[in-house]
Amino acid sequence: MEEKPAKRQKPPTFQSVTGIYEILPEEAPIWEKAYSAVKNAAQFYDFKRMETGIIENADLFARAVGEDTDIVTKQMFFVRSRTHQWVLRPEGTAPIVRAYLQYGMSAWLQPVKLYYFGPMFRHEKPQAGRYRQMQQTGFEVLGGEPDAIFDAQVMLVAFRILRDLGIKEAVTEVNSIGCRVCQPNIKRKLVAYYRTKASKVCADCRARINRNPFRLLDCKREECQEVKAGAPTILDSLCSGCKAHFRNLLEHLDELKVPYRLNNSLVRGLDYYNRTVFEFFAAEAGEGKAGLAIGGGGRYDYLIEALGGRPAPGLGFAFGLERLVGIIKDRKNGGGRGRRQQVFFIHVGEVAKKKSLGILEMLRKENIPVAASLGKDELGRQIALADKEGIEIVLIFGQKEVYEDSIIVKNLKTGIQETVPIRKMVEEIKRRIKNE
Ligand code: HAM
Repeated sequence: MEEKPAKRQKPPTFQSVTGIYEILPEEAPIWEKAYSAVKNAAQFYDFKRMETGIIENADLFARAVGEDTDIVTKQMFFVRSRTHQWVLRPEGTAPIVRAYLQYGMSAWLQPVKLYYFGPMFRHEKPQAGRYRQMQQTGFEVLGGEPDAIFDAQVMLVAFRILRDLGIKEAVTEVNSIGCRVCQPNIKRKLVAYYRTKASKVCADCRARINRNPFRLLDCKREECQEVKAGAPTILDSLCSGCKAHFRNLLEHLDELKVPYRLNNSLVRGLDYYNRTVFEFFAAEAGEGKAGLAIGGGGRYDYLIEALGGRPAPGLGFAFGLERLVGIIKDRKNGGGRGRRQQVFFIHVGEVAKKKSLGILEMLRKENIPVAASLGKDELGRQIALADKEGIEIVLIFGQKEVYEDSIIVKNLKTGIQETVPIRKMVEEIKRRIKNE
């Protein structure tokens, strides 16, 4: 008989919104791994969890991130009720500083060290590694002394998280962009240089010459690279205070054996930074994602004041979790797959079904990850399912086994099976898992 051609499935009526990254179950274990690496680091380095709202006042970001930044001019999502308008937060630092001031944290023991997880929203052109809703985890140090030891510590926290996740080849790029004392001088030099080259750079750069000269160094366009390469370097024009701070930081990093690379043109896309700025890149990033930072941060000693507080220093960093997870996923050795189920439990018949949950509990208590398709009775189909999942050890529990207080342990690869008493089940499975 002639086979009918398979019907083409209609796409579902509703799809997720463009640029929204959704975590599917198969990827969830990697996310869990990332969350726990972050939590472990936070606990070890004494950062307390803080979660701010997702909706904020637009002015907060205009004031903190900068009126002229891409985030504020092009990328904010607005949320309206009948009477009010807010934005979905595009980043986490400004809300954390807002909360520091709102909840009187400047009266706590300084510095206050906080960390957070959560979605951020930026209306960017969606492409690999660039989403409109993305998850960040961030660490912030607020108040206290503006000592370079804190810069080194936050960079160390980030480095530890990456190492913990097996991302060994991460490169930390670092730069100093000066302070209120030296920045005007540095900007003057940049403006003077770029004015003589205005015809050779892109339209965006021409617009930045007077508005935001630091961003000239951030341009990735091919036609601007030659001019950029000849631009005056920031490091040469730092004031003595900023030079000393930067030198101290590098000494701490050397001492801590945190690898870094100086990048003279690293300026970051948010305006609140001063002195130290840094970004993390993974050498092992997948195709098309090599230039994307997996995280970034720096010092923001004027932000608390700019948002209405008494002058106090601050610094921090954030990772983009999709990018972090992406690297783990892309890695050839699949090192980030999380714990996979190694045992598949099958019940056959009503009597066995009733006792199934109890048996699964015994395995869970012993921390043995077990898969099961509870409620399905057909032995052959369940074995096929285990096989499809790549699980070798199958536990078969039927009526006979219920009465004998036993269970069948079968190896799908060798086909060998044996019946073991329930009280020896855990021991037997552990032995087999170890030998696998
Ligand atoms: P940011 O560099 O704008 O810094 O973002 C931090 C990280 O979030 C980036 O390095 C990247 O991994 C990820 N990210 C940013 N935009 C996207 C996107 N559209 N899609 C996917 N991932 C993205 C900040 O947000 C600062 N608040 C970091 C900070 C904390 N500075 C001091 N404290």
